[in-house]
Order: sequence, then structure tokens, then C-alpha cells
Amino acid sequence: MNDLTWHRVCNLTELAEGKMRALVIDSRDVVVCHTREGLYALDNICSHAYAKMDEGRLRGIRLICPLHGASFDVRTGAVLGAPASTPLITHHTRISGETIEVALAD
Ligand code: FES
Repeated sequence: MNDLTWHRVCNLTELAEGKMRALVIDSRDVVVCHTREGLYALDNICSHAYAKMDEGRLRGIRLICPLHGASFDVRTGAVLGAPASTPLITHHTRISGETIEVALAD
């Protein structure tokens, strides 16, 4: 595996469980989701049309698009509900000290 480049998102205390945070890494829109099962990062643009997923809702591990309501599993990016049919790309997350970090998938 290639060496990953880690980017700071925020302090762990700044992203409560059930919340999301959007950021741009190397011109790529990413959303970080804090769920009961852990931290997950995905592309922040819906695979169906153009909508920012962080403007939707996070319900458990289900991320729901604000525009037409497609839903995705934040753990894998898999589509859980129409009208999207293409998964969201997922990225790497880790906690370094008190800081949440993300590395883009290849
Ligand atoms: S843009 Fe997300 S479901 Fe259509």
C-alpha cells in the first residue's frame, strides 16, 4: 500500500457522535461522519446528481442525500436507497492524539 498523506479535520471534541463535517482536500469534497460505530469519511458529492451530502442527514450509519433522498452506508459507501445506484468512494480515517485525520483513497 502506498504511504498515506493524512490531513487534519478537527479535534475529536469538535465532532460529536451523529454529526458530520465537510472539508476539501486537494480539491476533493469530503465529508467525515461520526457514528456510534466510529469515524468514516466519504466523497461529499452525491453520486446521483450534484448535492453536498453534509447538507443531508446522518441516521446511524445511513447518510441521506438532501436532494432526492438517496442513502448510503457510511462504512462502505454502498447504496442503501434509490435513486442513486453508484456507491460513494470512501476514504481513510484515524485518530491521532485528540485529532481526527483523513487520508484520501488512491
Ligand atoms: S443528488 Fe443525491 S439523490 Fe439525487
